[in-house]
Amino acid sequence: MVARVLGSLMGTSAPVGYRTFFGQASVGPAEDQIREVSDASVDLIFTSPPFALQRGKSYGNLDQIEWVDWLASFGPEFKRILKETGSLVLDLGGAYQKGLPVRSLANFRLLLRFCDDLGFHLAEDFYWFNPAKLPSPIEWVNKRKIRVKDAVNNLWWLSPSTSPKADVRKVLAPYSDRMKRLLAKPEEFYSPNTRPSGHQVARGFERDNGGAIPPNLLQISNTESNTPYLRRCKTAGITPHPARFPEGLPEFFIKFLTEPGDLVLDPFSGSNTTGSVAERLGRRWMAWDAMEEYVAGSSLRFESDSPDEDMAVFANGILTNKPLRRTA
Ligand SMILES: C[S@@+](CC[C@H](N)C(=O)[O-])C[C@H]1O[C@@H](n2cnc3c(N)ncnc32)[C@H](O)[C@@H]1O
Repeated sequence: MVARVLGSLMGTSAPVGYRTFFGQASVGPAEDQIREVSDASVDLIFTSPPFALQRGKSYGNLDQIEWVDWLASFGPEFKRILKETGSLVLDLGGAYQKGLPVRSLANFRLLLRFCDDLGFHLAEDFYWFNPAKLPSPIEWVNKRKIRVKDAVNNLWWLSPSTSPKADVRKVLAPYSDRMKRLLAKPEEFYSPNTRPSGHQVARGFERDNGGAIPPNLLQISNTESNTPYLRRCKTAGITPHPARFPEGLPEFFIKFLTEPGDLVLDPFSGSNTTGSVAERLGRRWMAWDAMEEYVAGSSLRFESDSPDEDMAVFANGILTNKPLRRTA
């Protein structure tokens, strides 16, 4: 097992959590833990905070107005710990207003708070389309049939500066079959003409860049049913986290916005999908959750069949000596 469980999970009084080669997970409210983090030390905060839902999940959710105030209260600390080139990406599900077939504006209010009041910039707005999402809310969608299925989350990519580190070449999408044919025989496709928009189609489009520029709509099905994490939870008799996002989501942003050795933080990490992807990609990471059972369960993501020695060799090539925590 790669993860080493620390603290009261082993019956001691040390902080509860575990370490891996690249990161550390710990139990406790993000409000407390964030104060321990060094200034300008984090490259990416990627997180899915508890949503402003009407129907509470087992870990609880705040009223929508309170939720905006609560999450915005993290703004100054997020800004303090992020590097100038760093990014904050918030994955936010939508919600309806209580008892009405009209949507909550909470995600948009939060975006305006971060940009207007807290000094962040909206680098780009992304949308996560989960085709596997079940139709809801039942009243408006299934029974009365007056609203369509809500299958898109907002992903606000915010940054303290106007030039956060980013490299699209790390997240190129596979070319379409048509583009592959075009790359193979460009002359058969090129006819100099004007697009309906009035733009001239320029030459150069036939250059093979290794993949297509991805759009800001990420289509990723959240359908995992037989992953090592779920199998190990079953064996250990642990209930899997009820609101996990798919690995593809943090994977896109970690590759896009960080480099090996950079530091990624998920302050509301649940089953620690973010940390496990960061580990696989050779990024240092920190993950927090208020609930001990989630942190304990998340350590199952780091079970490994590969010998520790192999991981150590890999880790030593990438790890830096920068402290994760503030020094006194
Ligand atoms: C939407 S879930 C995150 C799920 C995660 N992305 C995953 O893939 O498993 C939000 C998490 O935030 C945690 N949480 C709620 N309030 C918190 C707080 N003040 N500090 C730290 N964690 C908190 C909850 O226990 C919950 O596990």
